[in-house]
Amino acid sequence: MNLNLIEDELNKLKTENNLRTLKTYSDNLLNLSSNDYLGLNEDILLRENFYKKYPNLPLSSSSSRLITGSYSLIMDLENKLEEIYKKPALVFNTGFDGNCCVIETMANKNTLILSDKLNHASIHDGIIHSGAKLLRYRHLDLNHLESLLLKYENEYDDILVISETTYSMDGDEVDLKKLTSLKDKYNFQLMIDEAHSYGVHGYGIAYNLNLVDKIDFLLIPLGKGGASIGAYLITNKLFKEYLINKGRKFIYTTALPPINIAWNLYILENMNNFKNKITALEDLRVYTKNKIESLGLETISTSQIISIIIGTNEKTIELCNRLLKKGYLLYPIKEPTVPRGTARLRIGLNPHITKEQINNFMEDLNYELNSIL
Ligand SMILES: Cc1ncc(COP(=O)(O)O)c(C=O)c1O
Repeated sequence: MNLNLIEDELNKLKTENNLRTLKTYSDNLLNLSSNDYLGLNEDILLRENFYKKYPNLPLSSSSSRLITGSYSLIMDLENKLEEIYKKPALVFNTGFDGNCCVIETMANKNTLILSDKLNHASIHDGIIHSGAKLLRYRHLDLNHLESLLLKYENEYDDILVISETTYSMDGDEVDLKKLTSLKDKYNFQLMIDEAHSYGVHGYGIAYNLNLVDKIDFLLIPLGKGGASIGAYLITNKLFKEYLINKGRKFIYTTALPPINIAWNLYILENMNNFKNKITALEDLRVYTKNKIESLGLETISTSQIISIIIGTNEKTIELCNRLLKKGYLLYPIKEPTVPRGTARLRIGLNPHITKEQINNFMEDLNYELNSIL
């Protein structure tokens, strides 16, 4: 390990305004960066009712799933998932583990993976670990994907297509009906990540559109709208058994604690009681989008994640600092997370944010945008 090289790299990041640092922010700020899209994590009554139902659960599972970590609550959760999605389910500790594990275990050097260019780092890492041949299609461009399927379907027996439903950086969404309909024409397996749509769309977009059957690996991370931790994989019986036997990130890790698993089950069982939150979020989304457009700003978002492109890292950081002083917590999304020159503000809405707060924020944002260099 060359210490000089490490220091040089960090210094370079600093000069490029790209150095990541860890901070704690005051609770008094209006948090526009949260991924708690339904506000379930902030719902005190919901939390109290949960603790009444499960007053004394252990805080560790103390074991991996294959030893004693498959305790009854986690099996109940997988059974409940199977009842809802009508396919077997497997719980992972995080979305990152779930994506990586499925891809690196199920794909190999004979696989061709066609992956949306903006897919999450966990998907990319899984692909690298798998040794598969990777081609990235243009973001959300299903015509480009189809041209690749056409070109390569005779060359590869084993093709895996990977997409997310809602994309985290722009809040744009895949046309899942069109994507799954490609399966009627071409021979491939499909993996879908619903990190940013679970909760926001109840059990998810695939479930609502009745498309779960067409998806070979439906991965649902729970750290966002799910207000928790962990991830559900909905797949078939054979793939589930294979992952239990071969998935290193499933086998060699301690299972999630009962307290988290009970909370996941509780959210799942109560999902139909959150309809008013889902409607309120949709109402706020439309309101905010109209407001942004009325100020002459642009966004390509079609979801609860609304990004406003600012330009350079420097300008975006300065804008966030100024907004922070006015009481808004907004994390600047910078290059290299997004392409050069497209650093942006990323707003994550939730039903606890009021329209009045949005109005005030937009006024302040407009003022700062006009006064910044
Ligand atoms: C699309 C997507 N998939 C997976 C993950 C990883 O999930 P987790 O935070 O549960 O590891 C994230 C972000 O965290 C994500 O945005």
